[in-house]
Formats: sequence, C-alpha cells, structure tokens
Amino acid sequence: MDITVNDIATSDLSAIVSIEANALQDLSSFNLDFVGFEINEITVNGESAEFERTESELTVYPSSAIAKDEAFTVIVQYAGSPEEMQSVALPVQTGWVTVDGGSFVMSEPDGSASFYPVNDHPLDKATYTFRVTVPAPLEVAANGVLTETINNGDTNTYIFEVRDPMASYLTTINIDEFEIEISQSQTGVPIRDYYSSTLAEEYREPFARQAEMIDYFSEIFGPYPFEVYGSMLMDTEFGSALENQTLSIYGTDMIDLDDVEETELTVAHELSHQWFGDSVSVADWSDIWLNEGFATYSEGLWIEHTSGREALDDWVKFIYSDVITYPEYYTAPGNPPADDLFNGGVYVRGGLLLHALRLEVGDENFFAILQTYFERYQGGNASTADFIAIAEEISAKDLSAFFDAWLFNEAIPSIPAMGLGVE
Ligand code: TRP
Ligand code: ZN
Repeated sequence: MDITVNDIATSDLSAIVSIEANALQDLSSFNLDFVGFEINEITVNGESAEFERTESELTVYPSSAIAKDEAFTVIVQYAGSPEEMQSVALPVQTGWVTVDGGSFVMSEPDGSASFYPVNDHPLDKATYTFRVTVPAPLEVAANGVLTETINNGDTNTYIFEVRDPMASYLTTINIDEFEIEISQSQTGVPIRDYYSSTLAEEYREPFARQAEMIDYFSEIFGPYPFEVYGSMLMDTEFGSALENQTLSIYGTDMIDLDDVEETELTVAHELSHQWFGDSVSVADWSDIWLNEGFATYSEGLWIEHTSGREALDDWVKFIYSDVITYPEYYTAPGNPPADDLFNGGVYVRGGLLLHALRLEVGDENFFAILQTYFERYQGGNASTADFIAIAEEISAKDLSAFFDAWLFNEAIPSIPAMGLGVE
C-alpha cells in the first residue's frame, strides 16, 4: 500500500495499492471490498481493467480471464478522503478516522474497506508492505517493522513491513506526532510503544509491564507469534482498544490513571489477542468468542500470575455474579447476532467457559489444550469445532454437552466446584 496523505485536516490522500493474489478458480471477474474514493485506474497483470462499483463491492473485469492456480497482480489507483463508516457489528465509527491533527485506524470487523481495496475476510490473510507519506512533522505508526524513513523535505515517507500473515481487519495506519519508547522482553521480543506527543508521561505507566506479560503469555500459550509488539495511545477518546497485529491501539479513555492495575488488565487483554485473534484468527465472525472469551480469560490469567489463584477465583466469582445479575446483557456466546457481535456474553461468558473447562479437565490438560490450539492454528484460522476437537482429544473426554451448554444455553451454566449458579 502506497499512500500519500496530502491534507491532514481531511485525510485527503492518493494511493496505489498492489495486490498479489492466486486464483483458486478460473476468473472472468473478481470482487474486492472498497468504500468511497475516486478510482483512477485498475490494472490486472499490467493491463487496464474494467470495473464496476455497487455499494461496498468493487468488481474487477480483467481484460483477459485468469486461469485457476495463476498468480496475478492487481493495482488500484485512487484518491480522495475516506468516508466515515459505521460498523454493522457495533454502533461505532470503523476504519480510517480523521481527528484533529492526525488520524487513526480501527477496523474490526468491517472497516478496512474504508481506506483500501481488499478481500475483507479473516480467512484471506496476507503479508503487507506500507509506504506512507505525510507532511512533516507528522509521523506514521503502522503494523510490523519500520524498515525505512525517508526525508523528502516537506514530507516524510515511512516504510513498514508485515512479514507474518495478517487478517485485513487488523491493518492499522496512524498519523500523529509521537514519542516512541523502545524496550524488549526477556525472551527477546522487541517492543516499541507509540504515545501521542501531547500526552503526559504518566500515561505510560499501565504499559510498563507489557514485557513481563509477553514472557508470561509466551510461557503458557506458546512463543509470541510476531516480530515485534507495542501499544499506541492516541490523545483522543474513542471508548475502546483494538488488538491491531503487532500494534494495539487505545483511546485515552481506556486508561485509568488512578487504577493502573485495572488498566493493566486491558493491556493484557489486547496483548493476548496477538495469540488468540491475530495469529489464530476466526474462520467466521460468528465464532468471535474464540477471540474475546480467550482475551477476557487472559485478564484472569494475568491476575492469577500477579496475585495468585485466590485472586483469580475472586475475579471469576465477581464476573459470574454480574452475568447472573444482568442476564439480558450477557447472552449465550455461541453464534451472536451480526448486529451485536461484540456483546457482553461473547466476552464474559466466553471467558467463564474457559475457566469452567479448566475445572472440568484439570490444569494440565487445560494448558495443553491452549498450547495445542495455538500451535496447530497459528498464522491461520480456526473454528469453535476445531477448538472443541482439541479439547476432547487432549482430555480424552466427550465434551459435547459441556460446550453445548456453555455456548448456547440461554442461562449461564453453573460452576458447582465453585458454588456458582443454581443446581
Ligand atoms: N476487539 C476489541 C477488544 O479487544 C473490541 C472491538 C471490536 C472494537 N470491534 C471494535 C473496538 C471496533 C473498537 C472498534 O475488545
Ligand atoms: Zn478483545
């Protein structure tokens, strides 16, 4: 992706996006997801191609058909300002967001098409090169490794490489003036954190234990799956955080300076998604509990690591009682509605499912299940059925009734071993 941002106030940009693809079948045409902009030209294998746009679908008609198994290159040249886009899955602006003095990108699940043409489905992972040019003194923070910075006088160009496969919704390009803090985990994972330069130093505190978190999760899940990690804190409030691959993003309203330990749970949550969500990605959005339930339970695992088993049990009891008190907010985590994909049940009941599974199969089996699931599906995609198959394989138990109840029962199942629920 070669993007030049001409006007930071409107994010007016010109872009050349080159896609290298393989045809899985004979193609007289193919579709990409893409919203807004003026398209100047599309070529396929160097030949100018016809195209057509209907809502967010871009259909490309190559001048000569592409044969099954053929590799082909699509180049799309376009310009304009990204359109503001609402997600179908939750009522927030998604994709490229222009703010005062810069911009950020949070695309999960359907916002990527707001700034580049892509087959926007987590099954279609790709490696990426970003070449982003911005007016000085602005800077760029994107996924992956910064390989080059070019000073062009009035503008600067930043080149980032993502060499591990990445789902399109995790793509992020952010423009601001930053302070960058460099560190490393003990196991050697490089960390670079980006803070808007307008932010006070104390905002860095909740991120101070990331290195320790990386090493702990590497120990219990398997080695950290990417070349680099870091967080990016924008001096903007947007009420959420997102686990963009190698570079999680947070709004300032996600940081509670008066409760660093509580904020660390969010930091642990986004980090754990690098294993569960980013490296092992859902094959279908209806399995989103595989992301959010795992990341929620990772908060509990961090509590256990730092404060002991009793603290974990207290946390489990606390969130379980919240589910009991507000059952309408915490619906069953299996197959959530498309327009409420990230509901409380997916997170909290998904997380509690994992604790119940741990009690059901024992610690040794439970952690072997997590590790095997990560090892088998890293860099790719998995489904709920894939996870259940591993849980049954490792525990040598028929867990179909267990998963059925935890994923689909209207009321949350009880956890008798902890005296939780009605039996
Ligand atoms: N995955 C995010 C998390 O860690 C939540 C999320 C989903 C989100 N879609 C979003 C955040 C869109 C911001 C915008 O919980
Ligand atoms: Zn999450």
